Amino acid sequence: MRLFVAIGFDPPTKQAIIAVQDELRAVAAGGTFTLAENLHLTLAFLGECYADQRAAAEEAMDGQVFEPFDIAFDRTGRFRAQGGDTWWLGLDASRDLARLQTGLVKTLDAAGLPVDRRLFRPHLTLARRVHSTVSPWPVTPITARVDRILLMDSSRVDGRLAYTTLHVRAACQ
Ligand code: 2AM
Repeated sequence: MRLFVAIGFDPPTKQAIIAVQDELRAVAAGGTFTLAENLHLTLAFLGECYADQRAAAEEAMDGQVFEPFDIAFDRTGRFRAQGGDTWWLGLDASRDLARLQTGLVKTLDAAGLPVDRRLFRPHLTLARRVHSTVSPWPVTPITARVDRILLMDSSRVDGRLAYTTLHVRAACQ
């Protein structure tokens, strides 16, 4: 299993994200665009895990106590790469988002899980391997409610990237 913990989005939010993807598509040469069903914001990346580590990750998620809050993507950005850039939707980590992400990573780490502890750079990948001469641009804020976090498994099915939700930790209401 290749695991990560993420925030997912409802259909209206995905539509707004797809509209930005379409703006990028119009100015991009090539690129592999994230499928609508795969759009997510990663909070913690675990990578390859065994079944007992999955159970520990679920327990760590269930230990997070948070109230629902909103996030707002407000810009595109890119990570430069040979072979084409990764383009993303970005946002500043609010206090609520930073608290949730930091608490989660600390708990996963304390449980002995192989969590990536690098600085959190919140981003939602729109497309990979993009060649384009445009610069990142601001977008009309896309607001999304965070009322749960998801444990996701990433795999390839017939060559296509597929994410499966393994566990859900809901916010307290
Ligand atoms: P990316 O979109 O920037 O590649 C599933 O692969 C998710 O985990 C994606 O959101 C991906 O981010 C993220 N991810 C993959 N490898 C990672 C790593 N080493 N550290 C942090 N996040 C990673």
